[in-house]
Amino acid sequence: MIILPKLPYGYAALAPTLSANTLHTHHDKHHRIYVDKTNELAPKAGLDGRPLEEVVREAQRKGETKLFHNAAQAWNHAFFWECMAPKSGLPSATLRAALDHAFGSVDAFKDAFVTEGSEHFGSGWVWLVTGSEGLKVISTHDADDTLTRDGLFPLMVCDLWEHAYYLDYKNDRKTFLNRWIDEVANWTFAERQLAAADGRGDGFRYPDAAEDAGARRDAPGQGDRPPA
Ligand code: FE2
Repeated sequence: MIILPKLPYGYAALAPTLSANTLHTHHDKHHRIYVDKTNELAPKAGLDGRPLEEVVREAQRKGETKLFHNAAQAWNHAFFWECMAPKSGLPSATLRAALDHAFGSVDAFKDAFVTEGSEHFGSGWVWLVTGSEGLKVISTHDADDTLTRDGLFPLMVCDLWEHAYYLDYKNDRKTFLNRWIDEVANWTFAERQLAAADGRGDGFRYPDAAEDAGARRDAPGQGDRPPA
């Protein structure tokens, strides 16, 4: 069984960039459905009790498409909640240097992220990832994510499904993305993921019930490993 993790902040904490109404609908209804469907389908695929990262990878490998879609969406949303913070701040020196190296500047990265996300056709996700080619921006369709892509490790993601922004921005995805990256992007979390990719600490892993209660959320040894 996987859980529906709590948001790492209050429902109104990201307003006015994202309203409490959006977060209630997005977390309590959309994320909940992906969790419930995963818990319904995983036992039928022989994957009950496995970490969600394994469920996603195995479901894809075994061609369990419906389970893959729901499990990946559950994971993507938990990762997405961590990619936002009430006070966005600025990238740390280490992350800033990596962004400068890959994109030329932090602003150029933001432009690349917003352009990729706003031009992505249909539903999906826009990611900042690191890998053998360094940092880059990619987008994935529907539920697809980086767990099943060898050599890519996610630092940041934004949800491109309309349910992520329609209540606040209607169909204006580009304005949503511009405000998201400027106002609520969690640079501290991205920095932690970058450190994990470099072998310093562990990356995000979908929390279990005990971790979600807060006791072990940031403890060492709880993260998903970057690709070798
Ligand atoms: Fe979503």
